[in-house]
Amino acid sequence: MMPVEATDIQLYLKERRQFIDGLLDRYLPSEEAEPKSLHVAMRYSVMAGGKRLRPILALTACEYCGGNVEGQDRPIHWAAAALEMVHTYSLIHDDLPCMDDDDLRRGIPTCHKKFGEAVAILAGDALHDLAFSLMARTGSTEAVAELAQAIGTDGMLGGQIADVEAEGRDVTRDDIINIHTRKTAALIRCSVRLGAMLGGADAKLLSRLTRYGEKVGLAFQIIDDVLDIEGDQKLLGKNTGSDRKKQKATYPQVVGVEQARRDASRLIDESVALFDADDENVLKSLALYIGQRQY
Ligand code: IPE
Ligand code: IPE
Ligand code: MG
Ligand code: MG
Ligand code: MG
Repeated sequence: MMPVEATDIQLYLKERRQFIDGLLDRYLPSEEAEPKSLHVAMRYSVMAGGKRLRPILALTACEYCGGNVEGQDRPIHWAAAALEMVHTYSLIHDDLPCMDDDDLRRGIPTCHKKFGEAVAILAGDALHDLAFSLMARTGSTEAVAELAQAIGTDGMLGGQIADVEAEGRDVTRDDIINIHTRKTAALIRCSVRLGAMLGGADAKLLSRLTRYGEKVGLAFQIIDDVLDIEGDQKLLGKNTGSDRKKQKATYPQVVGVEQARRDASRLIDESVALFDADDENVLKSLALYIGQRQY
């Protein structure tokens, strides 16, 4: 797959999504294999779609650093699939009644609504485990540790517990940046870093792309909060107004929707400015897409 012009970003996203769907289908256990109920639930949530942003960022960062993403069964493919499996596990658990209590995800009933809470919890756990067995196949202990660090108590889980504990409370802008940086930006940053690491980036490039990942990751969650207020439920495939109902601490709740949009745009501008003006590349286009997304 060749990198494409910025104007073709929608086509690029579509092609990459198809490619990633193929990887996921290949690495997920068959619905016919025991325990069937778990495998059916795992496939239900993963194959329901979604933007596939994290694996797309990993593949694109890998290519940007000179890595090859063509062919079959490359370390970057295992890492890309692992990122989407971890992400889907986090969504299944995030939607549970004890967490955000949501009924709709990716345009269909949430995993626990469809299969019950026990199956949903275990399907999430199983996706997490499968993700790490795929990461182990890369043969890179650094890559395995990178993902573990990003989603553990210093990263995604630390953010998720802070998010739950902030419900119904007044928070500052710094608090919410702290929550969003961990619950969402940590995995997005990790996606870019894994792509860069497996693409052979040197320390300098890795550090620049890390900053890119942090900025687009934070912007991504700010926009997610804005879309919960202003977005189209049909396009999003999840219920809007869910944050308000749960008295969630959100970025627009702290600074207002207009300022939230401005702050997200500033982060996107900063992420683009990490590249030379004449360095036209897909990571830049992806940042702009993240800033403008409607779903
Ligand atoms: C939703 O992530 C959860 C957040 C971290 C905001 P996405 O908006 O990437 O969800 P999918 O994968 O496209 O369904
Ligand atoms: C989810 O944030 C973050 C993780 C799942 C780690 P949200 O709770 O805002 O995501 P949505 O809005 O339910 O997709
Ligand atoms: Mg949540
Ligand atoms: Mg949620
Ligand atoms: Mg949200």
